[in-house]
Amino acid sequence: MRWNRKRVLVTGGASFIGSHLVDKLLSLGAEVKVADDFSSGKLGNLEYPSTNKGSGVWTSENLAVHKVDLKDKTSAKLMIKDVDVVFHLAALHGGRGYIHTHPAQCCTNMILDQLVFEEAYKAGVEKICFASSACVYPSYLQESTGSLYLLKEGDADPFVRGKAFSDLEYGWAKLMGEMALKAYHKQYGISTSSVRIFTAYGPRENETHAIIALIAKAFVKMDPYQIWGTGEQDRNFTYVSDIVDVLVLAAEKIDDGTPVNAGRDDRITINEVCEMIFYITGWRPRNIKHDLSKPQGVASRAADLTRAKKILGWAPKVSYREGFKRTVEWYFTHKARGDVKANLNRLLTER
Ligand SMILES: NC(=O)c1ccc[n+]([C@@H]2O[C@H](COP(=O)([O-])OP(=O)(O)OC[C@H]3O[C@@H](n4cnc5c(N)ncnc54)[C@H](O)[C@@H]3O)[C@@H](O)[C@H]2O)c1
Repeated sequence: MRWNRKRVLVTGGASFIGSHLVDKLLSLGAEVKVADDFSSGKLGNLEYPSTNKGSGVWTSENLAVHKVDLKDKTSAKLMIKDVDVVFHLAALHGGRGYIHTHPAQCCTNMILDQLVFEEAYKAGVEKICFASSACVYPSYLQESTGSLYLLKEGDADPFVRGKAFSDLEYGWAKLMGEMALKAYHKQYGISTSSVRIFTAYGPRENETHAIIALIAKAFVKMDPYQIWGTGEQDRNFTYVSDIVDVLVLAAEKIDDGTPVNAGRDDRITINEVCEMIFYITGWRPRNIKHDLSKPQGVASRAADLTRAKKILGWAPKVSYREGFKRTVEWYFTHKARGDVKANLNRLLTER
């Protein structure tokens, strides 16, 4: 598939992952339209000189950014008009602190997803690629600390008995989005794909997510340094450029709605992440406090990459050490210590 001059819509394109996807698509020669209500996305994430055209529209070469609420049917229809490919990333979403405390908001993603998919189908787009999540996986497969189990795509399937038990309302909504895209392919033949993103991190991410939260605490020299939970919970944090590569490859190579993991198969505990951050920043607190009253998510999560390797020829390229270094450098050069310190409690839970 050639991206040169393809007309691509990125919903939620002003977000952390969305903005990196926009960078990639522009570098491949695509003509990109972003539709975002800026509820958490930021115009500043799209680092291009832009002209303000008024009425919530900004343009620069091959890029048009529209401030719209895609839950409004007329706006969704207008955004999808004259588009070849849709990457659907818009969602109400945040880190563990957000999805734990905003279950009703997470449910509204089902309306948003179905509206975008239906309008995309009606407009006759060639492809829809959906940003799904590792939260579709049953949490009971992720309950043992130190587990070696790798989550396989077949572990979450609404049509196989005992294989649907997603992580909170947010995970269920993503699973329903995936299910709908399979149905659109089955009934109408439209090309669809779903990428199950496993805890992305990198520049432009906000503090509701673990890596940025832990970097922010080091930035303001929080002492005692607070870690949510025991710190022995592990994840497979995946650098954002690796995630973006999967989204593009999935749109190129998957047509039938088959979901694919975008993550890592090597785990790292939160305590190990903190050690790496202390090493990179050259600062360490005198005391570390594990706050067991805070949500810490599942105990252990990592991705099986067999399908991603086989269908997409993909494996992550950026190591933890390199990815953390790039993210710390970005955070320390883009944030003001006084601001972060004054607002830290809010930043950790509000998207
Ligand atoms: N960050 C991760 O680790 C991760 C993991 C799994 C899945 N995802 C998914 O990837 C996508 C991007 O996530 P992110 O972490 O980059 O940031 P995010 O969750 O902040 O991105 C969501 C974007 O959608 C926009 N948005 C929300 N409601 C909208 C509406 N009604 N109309 C238009 N725009 C709307 C927001 O302003 C934001 O830019 C989301 O769908 C998220 O669920 C992210």
